[in-house]
Amino acid sequence: MNKIHAAITGIHAWVPEYILYNSELEKMVDTTDEWIVSRTGIKERHILRGEGQGTSVLGTEAVKGLLEKTGTKPEEVDMLICATVTPDMQFPATANIISHNCGIKNAFSFDLNAACSGLLYALVTASKFIQSGTHKKIIVVGADKMSSIVDYTDRATCVIFGDGAGALLMEPTTEEVGIRDSIMESDGSGMPHLHQKAGGSVRPASHETVDAREHFIYQEGQPVFKFAVTKMADVAVEIMERNNLSANDITYLVPHQANLRIIEAIARRMGLEKEKVMVNIERYGNTTSSTIPLCLWEWEKQLKKGDNIILAAFGGGFTWGSVYLKWAYDSK
Ligand code: UT7
Repeated sequence: MNKIHAAITGIHAWVPEYILYNSELEKMVDTTDEWIVSRTGIKERHILRGEGQGTSVLGTEAVKGLLEKTGTKPEEVDMLICATVTPDMQFPATANIISHNCGIKNAFSFDLNAACSGLLYALVTASKFIQSGTHKKIIVVGADKMSSIVDYTDRATCVIFGDGAGALLMEPTTEEVGIRDSIMESDGSGMPHLHQKAGGSVRPASHETVDAREHFIYQEGQPVFKFAVTKMADVAVEIMERNNLSANDITYLVPHQANLRIIEAIARRMGLEKEKVMVNIERYGNTTSSTIPLCLWEWEKQLKKGDNIILAAFGGGFTWGSVYLKWAYDSK
């Protein structure tokens, strides 16, 4: 019997309409468009506005679009994983809410938290269920309303993040395409550098935690930057080497979009020219778990069956990883 591989067979993404430009941030905090663009590469980001609008709104739009685009009936989906650090609420899982909104009734749905590496963690998890033969149609959705945990008085973080969602359909194939290899890692000693101080079981919400602004992202930019560059490049180069891939063999690198300078450093270590690196950070900022699907979605029409693609991500935890896949279809 031929070996079963897990392949991405469809992709869709969604961002809210409202755009927060650097010029607007200049009025909110002590910053400049010049600083933001030169230090991060970001010009604008999309923000979900309105009362009672949570991450499931973003995820639902992405999944509904994916079902429609791929001609998949909701009842055919047998698993849905939502990668997020901004769930609608502590429980139930946002994945359950998205499934309900989309009429997905025959799936087991759960959230996965690996911060900015969440999409890769979810993709690799889903691929194992596909390869085992137990599941045939899995949706992996990365969705984050980062604006719900961003402190818009903190200039070092508020300029970076945006809201968005991206969804992938994964199915089995016996062709030599799909996920070929993965390296996933984590190191909990990174927690002090990037976390949310309150709202969990250590410091439940109280007047004190709210007054101290502890429900927002806390990030020490420089140590995170250094770790991100080193670890993401290490795994991306390792996955190239152990699959005998030279820079010439790679069609695209799809890096997590946290900072243009991080992306450029990784591409340099891999020996890749600019044209082979997907970058759209200037229009979306860091959307955490949806950066990678937002790139794949925008480049989908240029992708061809058999293209060698390397995904790489780094995030809070610390978590990081790289996936090597062969693209499974030609876009119509
Ligand atoms: O996606 C998950 C993982 N996260 C990341 O990968 C993020 C990694 N870190 C970064 O991308 C960068 O460290 C930041 C974009 C967060 C910050 O850039 P940086 O070049 O590392 O700046 P810095 O923190 O070293 O700060 C340099 C200066 C400081 O001023 P002083 O102390 O030198 O006077 C900051 O206060 O820039 C100042 N600064 C700003 N100035 C204008 C920080 N944010 C701003 C701002 N506008 N928005």
